[in-house]
This record gives sequence, C-alpha cells and structure tokens, in this order.
Amino acid sequence: MHSATDRYGVDVCLTKEDSKDVPECPHGPMLLFERFFKDGKPSAKYYACSACRDKKDCSFFQWEKEKISKAREQAHKEIIEKTRPLTQQVNYDKELEKLFQASTTNSSLLWTFCHTCNVLVWDDNGGRHNEHSLQSGEGLNELRHPSMILKPLENVKAQAQFLFSNQATQFLVSTIRKLGFKKVLCLGTPRVHEKIQLNKTKKSKHKPAMNSLLLDIDYRYGQFFPSGCFAYYNMFNNHFFEENGQQTLLEFMNSSEGDDMVLVMDPPFGGLVEVLAATVKKIWRFWRDCTAVKDNKKEMPTMWIFPYFMESHIHESLPSLKMMDYKVDYENHPHFKGKQDKGSKRGSPVRIFTNIDPASIKLPVEEGYRLCKICNRYVTTENFHCSKCNSCTSKDGRKYVHCDRCEKCVKPGRVHCSECNRCDLPNHDCQRSSIKGCHICGDMGHKRKNCPTRNQPKKRKSNVHDAKGKKSLKRKSKDSSNKEAKRRK
Ligand SMILES: C[S@@+](CC[C@H](N)C(=O)[O-])C[C@H]1O[C@@H](n2cnc3c(N)ncnc32)[C@H](O)[C@@H]1O
Ligand SMILES: [Zn+2]
Ligand SMILES: [Zn+2]
Ligand SMILES: [Zn+2]
Ligand SMILES: [Zn+2]
Ligand SMILES: [Zn+2]
Ligand SMILES: [Zn+2]
Ligand SMILES: [Zn+2]
Repeated sequence: MHSATDRYGVDVCLTKEDSKDVPECPHGPMLLFERFFKDGKPSAKYYACSACRDKKDCSFFQWEKEKISKAREQAHKEIIEKTRPLTQQVNYDKELEKLFQASTTNSSLLWTFCHTCNVLVWDDNGGRHNEHSLQSGEGLNELRHPSMILKPLENVKAQAQFLFSNQATQFLVSTIRKLGFKKVLCLGTPRVHEKIQLNKTKKSKHKPAMNSLLLDIDYRYGQFFPSGCFAYYNMFNNHFFEENGQQTLLEFMNSSEGDDMVLVMDPPFGGLVEVLAATVKKIWRFWRDCTAVKDNKKEMPTMWIFPYFMESHIHESLPSLKMMDYKVDYENHPHFKGKQDKGSKRGSPVRIFTNIDPASIKLPVEEGYRLCKICNRYVTTENFHCSKCNSCTSKDGRKYVHCDRCEKCVKPGRVHCSECNRCDLPNHDCQRSSIKGCHICGDMGHKRKNCPTRNQPKKRKSNVHDAKGKKSLKRKSKDSSNKEAKRRK
C-alpha cells in the first residue's frame, strides 16, 4: 500500500459523454478520480461520490476496472433505495398548496414542522411525532421562507448550507430585476428563489413578475414550492434524483426566450471548480438547445458566487466569468459575515463571478462602492486604479502595491524574492515555492493529467530533476486537487 507521503494528489477525470457503466451511490453517478504517486508508481483510477468530500458521509468506492459481485451490486441498490426521501418530504405539501392558493392573510393559522421526520405536520392525532423535534409557527410568512424554518445542514463538507444575509439576497434579486431578467435558474440558492417566489404573489405594476426554479440537493425545499419550481438535484454530476426532474428544467427553459434567463449559483466552497464548471457548461448547452439560441458559443448569463481566492480556478475552467468587487455576506457563516463583524475586518471574501457586462451591474454607493471610469466597472472604495496594470487590481479589498519586477500588483506586505522570482511573504520558504508545472515531468506546458510521459514510468524521476533543477518537489498544497487527495482515505 502507498503511504500518504508517496502521493502527489488526485485529479478528477471528466468524460465528455455520460456513460452508462458509471457506478452509482446515493448521490447519483459517481465521479472517476485518478490518484498520482511519486517515484514513478503507476497512477490509480477509482470511482467515488461526487457530492460528499468525506468518506464518512458517503463510503461508496470502486476501482475503475473492478467487477463487483451480483450480491454486492444488490446490496448497493438497497442502500441507495433506503436513502431516498419519502414522497411527502420532497413534494409540494397539499395542505400548504391550498393555503397559498386561498392566499389568506390569516395570521392566526398554525403550522408545525417536524425536524426529525423533515415534514410539515398538520394534525398529529396519532401522536407519531410526540417525542420528535418540532417547530411551530403562526401565519404564512415563514412558510414562504422555508430557509428560515429548515435547520441548515451545517455539514461544511457536504451541503455547506450557508445562507445569504438579507442585504445580499436583496442586492442579488434587485440586480437581476434591473438587468431585465424574468427567469432565474437557482442552483443551490434557496434564498434568492424564495424572494422571487414571494414577489410572484405580490403582483405590482412597477415590478414585472419574475419566475424561478430551484435545483438543490436539499429535498426538504420541495415541500414548500409548487411543482415546476423545485427539483431535487446534484450539481456535481448534473443528476436529477427524480424522473420528472429533467422535464421540470426543460419546461422552465421552454418558458423563456433565452436572453431573459439567468443562472445564479452558490455551490459549497469545497466543491471542485472543474466539476462544477462541467455542470455549468451542460446547463448552458441545454439552455441553447431549449431556447433555440443558434450561436453555439453563446453563454447563458451566469452569476457564480464563490470566494475571491478561487478566481484562478474559475478563470481556468470558465474564462468568461469575471470577478466583481461586491462582497456577498452570509447569515450563519462564522467567517463570511459583514464588515460589522470583528472576525473579518475586510468583510466577506465571497464574490460574484459573472459573464454579464460588469459595467451594467451597479454596486451600491452607500455600501462603499464606486465607479472606476477607466475600468468601467464598480469597485470597492479601497480598490485603487493602477496605471501600470491599467486596472483596479485589489482582490481582497485592500490596496494592492505594484511590483515592477513581477509586472503586476501584489498584496500589501509582500516583498520581491529574487530566488523565487516573485513577490511573497518576507519569511517564506523558497524551497516550498509553488511549482506550477507538470508533477510528473516538470514541463510547464501541461498538467500531470495530460503528461505525455505517463506511460514511461522509469524516466519520471530524472526528468523532474532536469526540468526543475531542484531536488525538492514539495509543493504548496493550495491546489484543490491536493486537498482532494488529503480528504480521501
Ligand atoms: C453555500 S449554500 C448556498 C445557499 C445560498 N447562499 C442561499 O442563501 O440561498 C449551498 C447550497 O447548495 C446546496 N447544495 C449543496 N450540495 C449540493 C449538491 N451536491 N447539489 C445541489 N445542491 C447542493 C445546499 O443545499 C445549499 O442550498
Ligand atoms: Zn454519494
Ligand atoms: Zn416526526
Ligand atoms: Zn480601475
Ligand atoms: Zn499594478
Ligand atoms: Zn514582485
Ligand atoms: Zn523565495
Ligand atoms: Zn508532464
């Protein structure tokens, strides 16, 4: 067996077409991963869960070429079957539907949600929920905001349900409206969905009605929204758990003329960008097909909410998405709260990445944003325009400093290191300085996954030395695929 120190890391192998032979776990088709080892040991491919980063959350595992016995296959099927939610948990609640339709302003209405069973309970004469964790409330308001009722599944690694603050939700929805979008595809953004669904009920002359569809792995939301407005879905493998899910998306797409639809997504921050980007591209393609957009390069307008430090990863997978300065605040996330919060002086590190023209997205002046006329986009007040870079260069909200030798702006507090030939912290370890090239042969032109020398195991070691001229191959494990390596096994 290989020890952890023998490993470089893990890459995901995304196939172009969805194959039928892919094994499934309770979260749908698994993803194929490839683990790389040092010292020329051959890499190993295996299937693992797409949605859960921790084996504790989903232990399904299978080597690529492994043939599993009929008995094990059957056992897997049974486990998957057992994890399926009950119809009552995932479908629009009939009683709620009646209440919403009557749209009574009946504030004395009483409701109960059972957190143990994850269902709305209208009468419990049988006393089935007696010993359960129950929450009761009055009136329809909270029922229209299920994110206020459902306890966030704060399993950071799996669902990572961090909810937008009211201010952030308001900003997103009003921006979407001002941009003229009528249809909003919400991928893991229940707060945005809720707000749009609520506005739908308050018809107003000034605010044209918008509609939205929520795709989320938290099936509990299904109880609160009409069919056609929710689908139980896994964004890491573009998998609909129910038969009518794909149809729901199709109908939603068909109701649009194309340009009036926007995709708003806020995936768990630990999710592999490459995998999420593959899903985004599939959604874009589906959007083009459904809305008869002829130009096959045209992208569906998209807002992807993600931390600023993931910019290079997003840029690599989806170069058209540009990062905006707006700081997206969260309600229940200890690190991503607003400026008032002592823990994070610079405010939330979460940003919006979008292919919508940044000049058309006005950021609120009262929250400290201004227009840079040269860049023609809104930036934070702390973000200064660098004439040498010809752009407003701050990423984290602090004023960046231009380094002539790097020929770019860098974070404050960095010094230029001639050994590493770049700016870094004054006490950094030059040996550990990141090696960006291929792990196997050291070439800068490709990554290990595409290394042409992969089938010549004996040459690897010496090639690395030649190409790098360094003995140590220790690498900063900032790369998400390295994290991937650590979390598995
Ligand atoms: C970071 S939270 C975003 C919530 C958002 N900030 C809001 O307030 O509306 C992630 C969301 O994605 C959903 N989610 C997590 N993993 C998912 C998966 N594999 N597929 C689809 N949705 C997922 C969660 O249930 C949650 O709603
Ligand atoms: Zn799984
Ligand atoms: Zn119960
Ligand atoms: Zn500027
Ligand atoms: Zn600069
Ligand atoms: Zn420098
Ligand atoms: Zn150095
Ligand atoms: Zn190589």
